[in-house]
Amino acid sequence: LRVTGVQTCALPICETKIGEINVNMVYGGMRGMKAMVWETSVLDPVEGIRFQGYSIPELQGGVLPTAKEGGEPLPEALFWLLVTGEIPSDAETKQLSQQWAGAADLPAHVVQMLDNFPSHLHPMAQFAAAINALNSESIFAAEYAKGTHKSKYWEHTFEDSMNLIAKLPSVAAKIYNNLYRDGAGLGVIDPNADWSKNFTDMIGYNDEQFTELMRLYLTIHSDHEGGNVSAHTSHLVGSTLADPYLSFAAAMDGLAGPLHGLANQEVLVWLTQLRKDLGGKNVSDKELHDFIWNTLKSGRVVPGYGHAVLRKTDPRYTCQREFALKHLPDDDMFKLVAQIYKLVPDILLAQGKAKNPWPNVDAHSGDRKS
Ligand code: COA
Repeated sequence: LRVTGVQTCALPICETKIGEINVNMVYGGMRGMKAMVWETSVLDPVEGIRFQGYSIPELQGGVLPTAKEGGEPLPEALFWLLVTGEIPSDAETKQLSQQWAGAADLPAHVVQMLDNFPSHLHPMAQFAAAINALNSESIFAAEYAKGTHKSKYWEHTFEDSMNLIAKLPSVAAKIYNNLYRDGAGLGVIDPNADWSKNFTDMIGYNDEQFTELMRLYLTIHSDHEGGNVSAHTSHLVGSTLADPYLSFAAAMDGLAGPLHGLANQEVLVWLTQLRKDLGGKNVSDKELHDFIWNTLKSGRVVPGYGHAVLRKTDPRYTCQREFALKHLPDDDMFKLVAQIYKLVPDILLAQGKAKNPWPNVDAHSGDRKS
């Protein structure tokens, strides 16, 4: 893999001023300030995310290698695209899958730690703790301690990052199995299966449609410019030369907040409460309307709606909606999510606070097959 990335830029254009900053902007948490160069993806407020110039529909339309004819893109292919700027061949994608499968095992002390956690410890707290503990495997930390030359940092960091990505499904699956499958083992990692297939096998799902959904899910969540809390956090912590395990664990702590990644759990909790309160599957628009307003009037946010950058429906929402329309159009939970989509934007506009009344990725990823 050829890794792109520049720290500084010697071109005259890079001396161009890109804006002015006033005190209000600083109080606003960097809103409106251009303060970042992010090579791998660009988040347009109206169009949504593009990865190395490709939109999600383009990536789904056959640009990236898939596991099956006409299927969803493979996240390892997107990773290749992100770090090299080039579309990988099928063989290159396969090689990456094999590399990750070959490094997926967890050290015994991490497994033991996860087994010892109480079931009421939130999965994200367990996830971040386990990733911190994987620091025992850091090549960067070991090489730094030996006095490696600065010019070699990126190589060790890259190796750690690859090993970390390889191990993430095992950590997630271990937590899932401990909490929801009576501590079932992870089974044998298939050296020839792709990253998502091994993950769904580890958590006991052998439905091909679910594996396809996971391929799409992992692809669309792979990168979202660098200004979001978790990406920013990993860079901030990494700038201290904390190794990739420590940096990524910090990022996961940020992701665990309800206004960021936990929003998809919040959506599920909210939908479950909604069905409980409104008694069942067929809820009228009027009942839903009142439920949504009650959420706002009680001083809470409508989870899964709004965004700091986007000003339209998130294309990551749209592609999940299209997947559901294609594969499970009659699912009750999907129908409820679709009904809510028709109502929430107008309500948020009427309330007049949220700058973006449209759904983000979590309004759909928090859905689950009913
Ligand atoms: N429901 C209710 N109110 C909302 C809202 C929502 N979904 N989205 C934004 N608002 C409110 C904000 O809380 C804020 O209110 P305040 O002035 O009382 O503090 C006001 O609208 C302006 O916020 P805005 O500038 O539009 O958003 P932001 O950049 O401050 O925050 C989010 C962005 C994503 C944190 C925000 O939209 C939100 O909380 N959404 C729900 C949680 C969620 O889905 N998070 C996942 C994001 S991918």
